[in-house]
Amino acid sequence: MQPDHLTINRDVWNADAANWVAFAQNRWRLDPPEWGNWGNTEESLNLLPTDMAGMNAIELGCGTGYVSYWMHRRGAHVTGVDISAEQLSTARGLAAAHGADIRLIEGNAEATGLPDAVFDFAISEYGASIWCPADKWLPEAWRLLRPGGRLVFLGNHPLSLLCSPLDGAPANLTLHRPYRNMWGADWTQVAFEPTGVCFNLTIAAWWTLFAEIGFDVTNYQELYAPEGAKGTRAAVPADWASSYPVEQVWHLMKPE
Ligand SMILES: C[S@@+](CC[C@H](N)C(=O)[O-])C[C@H]1O[C@@H](n2cnc3c(N)ncnc32)[C@H](O)[C@@H]1O
Repeated sequence: MQPDHLTINRDVWNADAANWVAFAQNRWRLDPPEWGNWGNTEESLNLLPTDMAGMNAIELGCGTGYVSYWMHRRGAHVTGVDISAEQLSTARGLAAAHGADIRLIEGNAEATGLPDAVFDFAISEYGASIWCPADKWLPEAWRLLRPGGRLVFLGNHPLSLLCSPLDGAPANLTLHRPYRNMWGADWTQVAFEPTGVCFNLTIAAWWTLFAEIGFDVTNYQELYAPEGAKGTRAAVPADWASSYPVEQVWHLMKPE
């Protein structure tokens, strides 16, 4: 049985928030943006519309709020939702420091309580995209988007989860868990860097879920560590992430 991910993940992020302030300060300053654990550039990925003037945009699991700020900088009216009061406190402090008018709401990305069909663009970078079950947060994103609205989300590639040892040690070249029926992983009790409960699906299951909800897939990107990357990030060594897809980005549209 899957554990109570909402309480666990909220508590994990409240406890860990202080460790992400310096990273957040750096990301808020980045122009143009860089994405994910390996800092792939916006120029290479095109995750955001270039001109967001007048768009209503929402970030689901906004954390420290830098993606929200990047959208604000492009002219959008931005709402960020996060379940962790401590992460939002960092986001609010940085929004004030940057003079950014961003609506930041403490809440669950699976059930935001916001009205139907009010957003032109929704995004999640390692937010709801990995911390919420896809069959819970994707229908909510669908509900929030107007027809023609787009959702972009970035998270771990399923292959990186397959190659991650059960004890949380860095990824290697062994398949450590079944791909069939993949749902994610409970990292709360592992020996190395325990954290919360994360979700992922097989590629086919992602496609099936998008079709069931009614999303069109407009693009799918597999991300690698950029050339020259060194070290280990989020328990994946650079040489692994340079040869195998470490992150994925789905681009979806709610049809008109
Ligand atoms: C790695 S951060 C990603 C956000 C942002 N890219 C950043 O790095 O600051 C993950 C965030 O997801 C949030 N989160 C986890 N579960 C959530 C849920 N059910 N609803 C909203 N936010 C959630 C956490 O509180 C955390 O702030």
